Amino acid sequence: MNGAAFAWTKRKIGRMVNAGAWMGLVLGSGLLAARTLVGAAEAQSAQAIADVPKMMQESDCFSCHRVNQKVVGPAFAEVAERYAGKPDAVSKLVGKVKNGGAGSWGELPMPPHPQLTDAQLKTIVEWVLAQKSKPSSDNKPAEGAKEYAYKLPDGRTLALNFPVFTANDHVTGSVFHGWEKFNSYCFRCHGTDAVGSEYAPDLRHSLESGMSKSQFITMMMEGRPDKGMPTWSGFFDVDDADQIYQYVKARSVGLVGPGWPSD
Ligand code: HEC
Ligand code: HEC
Repeated sequence: MNGAAFAWTKRKIGRMVNAGAWMGLVLGSGLLAARTLVGAAEAQSAQAIADVPKMMQESDCFSCHRVNQKVVGPAFAEVAERYAGKPDAVSKLVGKVKNGGAGSWGELPMPPHPQLTDAQLKTIVEWVLAQKSKPSSDNKPAEGAKEYAYKLPDGRTLALNFPVFTANDHVTGSVFHGWEKFNSYCFRCHGTDAVGSEYAPDLRHSLESGMSKSQFITMMMEGRPDKGMPTWSGFFDVDDADQIYQYVKARSVGLVGPGWPSD
């Protein structure tokens, strides 16, 4: 973000996002800082991230994995469960993360990681294998557990599983950050304000015609390089992807208009 836009947005954002997210934004001139400090509500997971081997934070693992939730790849706690007590688990998984590939959990491939040494991979895999599923009471509410009903401009009422607006009618910090990221990184192909362009599809239309959130995030992280869609894993993590999804979804149903997403 350049300095001028930053100063201009500062006052307004201050009202819209919680102090923690704002901190993330202040420190967020590097994406990594924004990533590890994602707001007070996420303090716990930020703490958990602090215990992760450093090379894992610096690599792309958290673009596609979470500890307790399947995203593009399996939840690390589930991986740990599957390989518990298997003597060759570490060497098998070191090879898998290094060379990439599909077939153990589904059709989607994991990209190879040739830049990590065997020693680094061993530390990482041992960390993965030490993860445990959280008791369900600690988990965030399952997706879709909570609903937010909105009246659309065309008169329909629609229930979403994330909030678009805060109590005082501003867009949430997540939707705002999604707007910011979309219009920094996606707009040059998918059009300013997500209206599509001759280079790439109108993503509002993709979501309106049935693309799910998980398909959206998978496409974003895996990319489709042969068709000109870049791979965003390693650059964005799962929380960033969530925010971009929320913004595009809010655009697709008409709750957020073009331009600065305010009231
Ligand atoms: C672009 C998305 C993506 C990224 C980035 C990614 N993974 Fe994966 N990962 C996957 C997918 C998809 C699978 C399931 C592959 C399969 O079914 O065989 C997977 C599977 C795994 C497994 C289980 C493998 C098995 O055979 O059971 C481990 C362990 C793992 N990933 C660790 C990592 C680590 C560590 C990193 C970072 C160095 C990482 N992943 C980065 C998508 C990703
Ligand atoms: C360099 C151009 C380019 C950029 C930048 C880009 N995309 Fe794409 N994207 C494409 C193209 C081209 C396609 C269509 C690929 C195909 O034909 O399957 C696509 C397809 C997609 C799709 C699937 C749409 C559908 O209906 O199948 C999603 C989701 C997507 N992009 C998300 C994103 C997001 C999110 C960003 C920003 C983080 C982004 N893209 C940035 C070029 C781009």
